[in-house]
Amino acid sequence: MSRQSINRRDFIRQASGAAAAGLTAASYANALGANDRVRLGIIGPGGRGQELMRAFLQSPNAEFVAAADIYTRRHDEAKSIAPGIKTFSDHRRLLESKDVDAVIVATPLHCHARHFVDTLAAGKDLYCEKTMTWSIEEAESCLAAAKKASKQVVGVGQQHNSAGYFKDARQWVKDGLVGKVTSVEAWMSRNTPHGKGQWVRPIPADCNAQNVDWKAFLNGRPNRPFDAHKFINWRLYWEFSGGNITENMVHQIGWIIGALDLGVPTAAYMSGGVFSEKDGREVPDTIAVTLDYPNDLVVAWQSTFSNSRFGLGIRILGSDGTIEWLAGTTDMVSGRSASGWSYAPEKTNRPNGEAIKGSSQGENHYANFVECVRSRKEPNSSVELGYRSAIAAHMANLSYRRKERVTLETARQSARK
Ligand SMILES: NC(=O)c1ccc[n+]([C@@H]2O[C@H](COP(=O)([O-])OP(=O)(O)OC[C@H]3O[C@@H](n4cnc5c(N)ncnc54)[C@H](O)[C@@H]3O)[C@@H](O)[C@H]2O)c1
Repeated sequence: MSRQSINRRDFIRQASGAAAAGLTAASYANALGANDRVRLGIIGPGGRGQELMRAFLQSPNAEFVAAADIYTRRHDEAKSIAPGIKTFSDHRRLLESKDVDAVIVATPLHCHARHFVDTLAAGKDLYCEKTMTWSIEEAESCLAAAKKASKQVVGVGQQHNSAGYFKDARQWVKDGLVGKVTSVEAWMSRNTPHGKGQWVRPIPADCNAQNVDWKAFLNGRPNRPFDAHKFINWRLYWEFSGGNITENMVHQIGWIIGALDLGVPTAAYMSGGVFSEKDGREVPDTIAVTLDYPNDLVVAWQSTFSNSRFGLGIRILGSDGTIEWLAGTTDMVSGRSASGWSYAPEKTNRPNGEAIKGSSQGENHYANFVECVRSRKEPNSSVELGYRSAIAAHMANLSYRRKERVTLETARQSARK
């Protein structure tokens, strides 16, 4: 590493702390050069975390130097991806490392807020997996922490907002091709063999109380004896997860929010249940949500784990045209699987409008974050996007759990209690 780049790194670190006062955005922005290596740390290199390590390593001039995980097995797994990295059990030791520029958080949902806030307090840049937080209250405090740390780069793991199907859709909306949008319909569907519930993972033989810091996993939840099933399959339980709303709706609602420049919903209603596999899970596998947005818009999202024929899709329905993004939808007539994105004019209001097939390449989401660490720009998936998506997700789940329509006001009130 050049002497010059060391000096720039020192400058960045100082700039994140008290010395930041008085720095102009421009002087800060010049801190890391285009060719400087970005040194990454990861908290929670489990299933997704290991995928992320591989993905971030494809970015030019990025390397992993440290990983923190409360399960010893993950230390070896992370080292097999990035040999030579330092490993820690306690994430705070990783955050003390002077050689980490940015931290990737890929822990279970109920730990995100803690790792988010601690990472920013340590002066590091941050990439936090979706959903940004487990609750509305945490979303508010993480957004506030990010605003306070305004010189640090914060990105969220909503990678669809870097894709070509996002770029084109946003452009079509900006160009006024869809007219007034009053309705958006979206869906996500999967299937599993009978008796095998979606998401259920086997428990590794070494997953025991000696190898896992169970108290750190509980992260303030009531203490109890080690439970390997809950540790590995945390996704199925409300204490740690928001179910398919925070796993998948959040991606699609984030895409819709980004394409249409939406804020947070004014109200949410969600119905459904555990219908597919009654395997003791708490979070519903069958879901129908409606989200009301200001200015006359309803977004509907449906999901099932018992049928995959129509894959995943979003349709933005406007007075002047329709934007459709499909992934693995089976055509009713031909039986072929269709994927792609397109625009179709509404002849009523755009008689001369032409259909368009989307073709933009989009951007590598992970390389975009790394580049933002250098340039100090806002990543494609910003903290605001993460926040707005999280609020929509938590309002939906709150409605389901209360069995009533929830307004933004009541959702925020309940978060304060
Ligand atoms: N963006 C995407 O497409 C995408 C895809 C899959 C998962 N995810 C998200 O990634 C996150 C992780 O999901 P996963 O499937 O990898 O879970 P996982 O259980 O496989 O991995 C979580 C890891 O965090 C560790 N961990 C738990 N508590 C910890 C703590 N307090 N400190 C440090 N490490 C801790 C666990 O030991 C484990 O290794 C979730 O938020 C999930 O929603 C995102």
